[in-house]
Amino acid sequence: MNISKQKPPKSGRRALVTGITGQDGAYLTRRLLELGYEVHGLIRRCSVPNTSRLDRLIPPDSPLRERLCLHFGDLTDSASLLRAVESARPDELYNLAAQSHVRVSFDVPDYTAEVDALGVLRLFEAVRTAGLAEKIRFYQASTSELFGKVAETPQNEKTPFHPRSPYGVAKLFAFWTVLNHREAYGIYAVNGILFNHESPLRGENFITRKITLAAARIALGKQDRLTLGNLDARRDWGHAADYVEGMRLMLTAETPDDYVLASGEDHSVRQFAEIAFEKVGLAIRWEGKGIEEKGIDQKTGRVLISVDPQFFRPAEVDLLRGDAAKARKKLGWTPRYDFRALVDEMVRADLKNESNSP
Ligand code: NAP
Ligand code: GDD
Repeated sequence: MNISKQKPPKSGRRALVTGITGQDGAYLTRRLLELGYEVHGLIRRCSVPNTSRLDRLIPPDSPLRERLCLHFGDLTDSASLLRAVESARPDELYNLAAQSHVRVSFDVPDYTAEVDALGVLRLFEAVRTAGLAEKIRFYQASTSELFGKVAETPQNEKTPFHPRSPYGVAKLFAFWTVLNHREAYGIYAVNGILFNHESPLRGENFITRKITLAAARIALGKQDRLTLGNLDARRDWGHAADYVEGMRLMLTAETPDDYVLASGEDHSVRQFAEIAFEKVGLAIRWEGKGIEEKGIDQKTGRVLISVDPQFFRPAEVDLLRGDAAKARKKLGWTPRYDFRALVDEMVRADLKNESNSP
């Protein structure tokens, strides 16, 4: 993989991806490389290598790697953004970088706003300074967390926003920053308002991966119990591979617009856990209420899941269910995964990894 100023061989379109080491960054990068793009990524310096997701999807010996180039930078560092934009001179910019954990945003609100809100503004400033405002197509990773305390269900592009966390509030600033740059400078900039999307590459402290990893480890005898927060929360879960395709499609439309991507189904955390445990051969029975609720192995009577209030949030988003009719109709977006296929793939991947590691 090229780091920094070593330019990859020239090809067709050029993309710059911030957050390239994250879940979506890895899936998007693989897809763009497969389509013949030259892909530049912004990467943070880290004390241990942080390219494991890219390595998993794009093997080190893959010829696709020749068109991938990484630049050190950070959304809190304007000069690094300008250098990356000037060096890559991208046709398309995907801003996926963020402090993306909602619960953590209550612990580091100031930092979350620096990255998730002001970071977007810095990136636009870099684009304008580099003289790319007229040519670039800019994708902003907006979120269903904007709907927060929802005004209606399902939520669509016209549903009012009511964010419920420092993360949601920062992303609201970002959302409007995109619109402002579209209106004020005519930049082709879009918001993808994406509902939760998951995969085997999902960070281990998001609920889906926390559950599939624990189910695999418990089935293999490597972990005793899983502790969770709000079991009643309901989310609209899809697969990241489908959602990055939607991001790309948003930048192919004739005019810039904002789109919801969602599966249109919602499930509770409790249901997700039940299905994931069922897939490793453990049938769960629920007993008790509130923080006393327990998920019990029907066969042995052992407690496998319990509730710990440390995972509750100061303000919760109870229910998200999206309506992606606009993206389906105008972009032809057609997700391939359904809910059960998503859970199945995640559980299988964790079982495989955990079986092969100590
Ligand atoms: P993720 O796995 O947490 O990845 C976040 C990426 O941002 C990582 O590459 C991370 O780098 C990078 N990053 C964090 N702080 C940064 C900074 N200060 N400067 C530069 N890079 C920084 O998130 P994801 O699930 O792929 O989500 C991608 C984007 O979509 C995020 O903006 C998220 O808020 C948004 N979103 C996600 C979902 C979802 O369900 N996944 C739904 C709606 C919107 P390190 O690897 O160095 O930490
Ligand atoms: N993380 C976590 N850990 N969440 C838990 C737990 C737990 O132990 N127990 C219950 N939950 C509940 C949370 O309270 C929340 O209601 C739900 O599970 C989903 O939590 P996360 O998986 O952390 O995701 P999120 O919905 O808060 O945020 C994700 O989706 C957003 C889009 O709606 C992130 O990817 C955000 O970056 C993204 O914008």
